[in-house]
Amino acid sequence: SESGHMVSIYDTLYTLFEKAIIEAYPDLTDPPVVISSSNNPKFGDYQCNSALPLCKLLGSASQGKKVSPREIADKIILKVASSPLVEKLEVAGAGFINIYLKREFGQAILANILKHGKVLSPPVVQKRRILVDFSSPNVAKEMHVGHLRSTIIGDSIARLLEFLGHDVLRINHIGDWGTQFGMLIAHLEDKFPNYTTESPPISDLQSFYKESKVRFDEDEEFKKRAYACVVKLQAHEPKYIQAWKLICDVSRKEFQSIYNRLDIKLIERGESFYHSRMKDIVKELEEKNFLEEDEGRKIMWGENREGIPLTIVKRDGGFTYDTSDMAAIKHRIVEEKAEWVIYVVDAGQATHFQIMESCARRARIVLSCHNIDFVGFGVVLGEDKKKFKTRSGDTVKLSQLLDEGLKRAEQKLMEKERDKVLTKEEFNKAKESIAYGCIKYADLCHNRNHDYVFSFDKMTEDKGNTAVYLLYALTRIRSIARTANVSREEMQEAIGKTPISLEHEKEWKLAKVLLKFPDVILKITKDLCLHTLCELCYEIACAFTEFYDNCYCVEKNQTGEIVKVNMGRILLTEVTAMMLEQCFALLGLKPVEKM
Ligand code: ARG
Repeated sequence: SESGHMVSIYDTLYTLFEKAIIEAYPDLTDPPVVISSSNNPKFGDYQCNSALPLCKLLGSASQGKKVSPREIADKIILKVASSPLVEKLEVAGAGFINIYLKREFGQAILANILKHGKVLSPPVVQKRRILVDFSSPNVAKEMHVGHLRSTIIGDSIARLLEFLGHDVLRINHIGDWGTQFGMLIAHLEDKFPNYTTESPPISDLQSFYKESKVRFDEDEEFKKRAYACVVKLQAHEPKYIQAWKLICDVSRKEFQSIYNRLDIKLIERGESFYHSRMKDIVKELEEKNFLEEDEGRKIMWGENREGIPLTIVKRDGGFTYDTSDMAAIKHRIVEEKAEWVIYVVDAGQATHFQIMESCARRARIVLSCHNIDFVGFGVVLGEDKKKFKTRSGDTVKLSQLLDEGLKRAEQKLMEKERDKVLTKEEFNKAKESIAYGCIKYADLCHNRNHDYVFSFDKMTEDKGNTAVYLLYALTRIRSIARTANVSREEMQEAIGKTPISLEHEKEWKLAKVLLKFPDVILKITKDLCLHTLCELCYEIACAFTEFYDNCYCVEKNQTGEIVKVNMGRILLTEVTAMMLEQCFALLGLKPVEKM
């Protein structure tokens, strides 16, 4: 465990038992290897539950001669090679194998983290180039809570993949092209006729959009002009391109301010980027005979003609969202050399992406060596369980939502009278940490596939699986070494010499939670569901509390003076804090020293 990676317990046990099972039953191809962590200490730390499925398999193969799962479990155990990870094995119940981990091994893994000064990532088999398409709001339309979900989830997925050492491209596929620009430009011409020489003072693009939409719907003359504007824009007439850019810039600034507040990094590459590539892809698909006529449209079906086809060219010859996504996937695979493309978009678009992938595979743009994943998510609901809206029924502006978060965080800190202890700067830092942390965490800690109820009251609760609870837990853990007067230097010195204390049952319990980290991360790379990382954070914080309630880190005399510091336990708190910090970094939470 001297390596620069953190050992995966699951993988190690899997390999160990796989070998044993193959040795015990050499005639079976692909025998079942079932390893899970146990949720009851009575049944060890992990379990191998292969005996039952093996029994079924053997029963149907050997007809007659019956062997019991317990006998099978015994036979497997005999074949398990000795491993520094395993303390003991025992057969229980109907043929389960309980696995007890060795403390020394856990100790070495955690000591390695202290030695390296950072939480190490699990070993990754193969470094890949991964493109994450997330956030992706639309220009001039509101950036709504759905885009907030995509932003938060996508950012966290990107953070996790970056942590694993992958080469990650964070792409913002902004909706910056389309027919809505016709009416926006026509409206711009009327409202700010000098826009080519003076930058128009549009502060609220959303109401600008609404105004032009009203005119578009009510005024035939205006509608005609709007269409004419689209045509001129698509012909790249400089004046119209300029107007389009102006409008995009207003949006861009709004988006960027949200990203700055939430500390999100993205490369903007909107639909307009694919302009010339759309023509190319249409030509390619046409030449390869993938396009079919359908009432004047040109459509393309997926591999098995399942679902609905993509519309590649409209009746008026224009391109669609489908066209831009086909051009984008080609660019991503061929030019960007992406091996894995992840789309983080609301579940409502699942079918679009499914068919798009199918078409891209049919056209052999995407090959079997490429992975395409659609990361969908549910709708954000208000506390009334209806779609999240303002009281007047409007969509909630994200900047206002973040402002409200700040207000709530401030209230929280005032309740605790933190204004009396923190400097103005510390107070503001804590406020931002809580506000943005809560909003992100509330989203991430739910299974993304479900709809979720947005509630400031819930997300700022002090107890339970919330950002507030966890951020406070970390500051508390961090303050232990401080109150024990252990300096950085002393800590550093102890790291090489003093073993992390794992004698006490609660110490060992905490350590075993920490050891799950690599397995949680590896699981997320498979299902891209981040709530399990939040669950781990909560589990760590709870296990730490149990440890701290039962084990003294410092001993004090009657007058309250520290008479003894238990360095092995201080080291355990240190590694716990590092682990929580690493999890927070993956979730985009920013802990502060004082709050
Ligand atoms: N702009 C789209 C929307 O707001 C999301 C784009 C997602 N990415 C993509 N490649 N289609 O619904």
